[in-house]
Amino acid sequence: MKCSKFSIITAILLLSTFLFACKGDKTEKKSEEKSESQGVALAEGKPVDQKIIVGYTVNQEALNQLLTSIMMGMNEVSLSTVNEEAQARWENVKALCDRCSPTDFEEAFKDGLKGEFSANEEVNQYLIEIGLSPNLFSYSEQVDFLTILSDAIDYLGRNRNRSAWTFYKFLKKYEGRRDAVIQYVNSNFMWDPASMFQPLYEEVPTEDESLLVDSMMTDDSISEVANIVTIDLSAVTTTFTLDELLGQVNYHTHENFVLLDKKYTEGRNQYLCKDAAQAFALMADDAASSDINLKALSCARSFSTQRAIWENKWQREDYIEFDSGPQRCRAILEYSSMPGTSRHHWGTEIDIHSLDNSVFEKGEGLRIYQWLTQHAADYGFYQPYTAGRNRGYEEEKWHWSYYPVSGPMLEQYNAQVSYSNINGFIGSGFASAVGAIENYVNGIAPSPAQ
Ligand code: DAL
Ligand code: ZN
Repeated sequence: MKCSKFSIITAILLLSTFLFACKGDKTEKKSEEKSESQGVALAEGKPVDQKIIVGYTVNQEALNQLLTSIMMGMNEVSLSTVNEEAQARWENVKALCDRCSPTDFEEAFKDGLKGEFSANEEVNQYLIEIGLSPNLFSYSEQVDFLTILSDAIDYLGRNRNRSAWTFYKFLKKYEGRRDAVIQYVNSNFMWDPASMFQPLYEEVPTEDESLLVDSMMTDDSISEVANIVTIDLSAVTTTFTLDELLGQVNYHTHENFVLLDKKYTEGRNQYLCKDAAQAFALMADDAASSDINLKALSCARSFSTQRAIWENKWQREDYIEFDSGPQRCRAILEYSSMPGTSRHHWGTEIDIHSLDNSVFEKGEGLRIYQWLTQHAADYGFYQPYTAGRNRGYEEEKWHWSYYPVSGPMLEQYNAQVSYSNINGFIGSGFASAVGAIENYVNGIAPSPAQ
């Protein structure tokens, strides 16, 4: 099922309105019943309970057990195809962990599978860190176990944490996997509503909005959870050098850059910073499973490459005709950066599919653009040059930026770079007159992290 952010939020609003309405009815009815029984209690001289039950929540202990079960189910499903020896070790872990705590399960998993399935370990660890918040499992009445289990899985999917998200992707890849985990948990979890629900005497807490993400994952490609590639959407804390910010870098030899696998390009060598390359590969693989072909046309560009682009345009007839230097610069700056001011220097930017906006208005281009608009943020990408901004470059539907790295790079650019650093090409003397830093470097759409 594909859901846009808007539709999810709308659904949540509708659901909470509905729950609120139901709760209102129930509360009224319950309080009537309550006052009746309290009336009887008073008449009989018994102590009167002043509280009114407005709903139910699943207690933390039950959620812990549920978490262990989900973790075991996830590992069971992902390890079902590995060799016999690992299978035997997994059986031992399971035997040790009958109804243990999530942490004990993780310890047993680490001991038993000895780092062989480190990706699984990582996912387990993150799931433990997240836990399952009792607040998110509050209901206006007692509900069945499958509802709670499916809410738990949705909770993981709404969480920004990368491993929870990876886990969620794993379950969404094939409904069969999700079903297998649900089936595992369902048959191993001792479901006892009497001991797991506790009454809520006050208002049910509202959903934590910060857990909502921009869009739900759809049909994603994860071949095996043991081989999961995860992406970290939290901002990097690296300190970048002036040279790195200005594109004075040899991407072939710089340790933080990698050559993008040719299957993601049009055949040319393209470099990206490692995090962006990993995220782009994951995004392109997932897009391919929805028949969306994301090809990177241009990625990291050094100062000297950008100078070649800039000076080539500077000499071109269509730009020579401008009377003044700043005018000529502004014309080039519609689509090309001055050397030393391009986000492409950072290895975080990718031009995808075509360098012509009209290509993205119909057919395959439109499908690609729609897919990116809907899903790219899940992989850390966003479009910095959108339509309708009041300064900077024109709209570029092809240009996508990896914001966990480009966000901090922009901050550091603003802190370290001044016009005295923008030189070494024809026309550099006009950089300040056109506001290359204020209007162009900073004239971007806000990223999803903002
Ligand atoms: N096309 C973008 C603005 C660049 O040249 O960096
Ligand atoms: Zn670009």
